[in-house]
Amino acid sequence: MARILVTGSAQGIGAQTARDLTALGHQVVVHGRDSTRADAALAEVPDAEAVVAGDLSSLASVRELAAAARHAGPFDAVIHNAALGPEQDAPVITEDGLERLFQVNVVAPYVLTCLMPLSPRMVYIGSDAHRYGRADLGAPGPDWTGHQAYADSKLLLQMWVFELAASATHAAINVVHPGWVQTAMGGPNATLPLREGTDTPVWMATSDDDLALGSGAFVHRRAQEDVNPATLDHDQRAAVVAHLEEITGLVLPTS
Ligand SMILES: NC(=O)c1ccc[n+]([C@@H]2O[C@H](COP(=O)([O-])OP(=O)(O)OC[C@H]3O[C@@H](n4cnc5c(N)ncnc54)[C@H](OP(=O)(O)O)[C@@H]3O)[C@@H](O)[C@H]2O)c1
Repeated sequence: MARILVTGSAQGIGAQTARDLTALGHQVVVHGRDSTRADAALAEVPDAEAVVAGDLSSLASVRELAAAARHAGPFDAVIHNAALGPEQDAPVITEDGLERLFQVNVVAPYVLTCLMPLSPRMVYIGSDAHRYGRADLGAPGPDWTGHQAYADSKLLLQMWVFELAASATHAAINVVHPGWVQTAMGGPNATLPLREGTDTPVWMATSDDDLALGSGAFVHRRAQEDVNPATLDHDQRAAVVAHLEEITGLVLPTS
């Protein structure tokens, strides 16, 4: 039995992942963006052991979330699932002066990772959309679209996660693409019912397969897949990490 934190578990893949894990007998801590969504997460995952709250679009709130998660831990695995989808018409600048999609999808999991002890398994929910992402660290320009910003965010997430995997070699640190899944983000026409979209995240967090125990892989349907070449470029990855260090004042853990 493992103790596992799943972020963004008030609906969608996060809620189903948490339910799957409790059904397998694991102890699960769920997460919602505020107290109302934390209650919703507990209602969605009735066998959850505990809940933590924090809004990923606020650096102050993520710091509070990290403190609550540290208190609820330690965890055998953390599944960084929460994210914003591409359905945003225009850039939104947060109280921290960052574009919201970038902050929620890239900066918030970085901050949570920096402010919590590294768990033996770290599973980051990415997307095959990273393949058409650009490692663009500039401010939103006039050509900004939600779809490009989402793809960029999943590439940037994957780049710093792979850099973490390269340095924190004692932990299994991987990125999972769940597939196109019927959720609020995936929409009703998605090819996978919700239950099938959680198979690989659950497997990566709990199985003893070599892939799940290894590190630095992009995994879909329980198999490693090729990545956008930027993910494999140490210099480009280091530039992403340096940018995140500058924004947050935090450095990634090495142990
Ligand atoms: N569905 C797909 O086809 C698909 C494909 C590839 C990758 N993914 C990835 O899979 C993961 C889960 O997506 P999903 O389809 O389950 O999406 P979803 O149904 O929209 O769920 C996203 C979750 O993230 C939470 N979240 C969003 N913004 C937040 C914030 N500011 N603070 C805290 N929590 C926040 C949401 O909270 P609320 O419930 O309060 O809104 C929700 O629980 C994401 O990383 C997504 O990028 C999904």
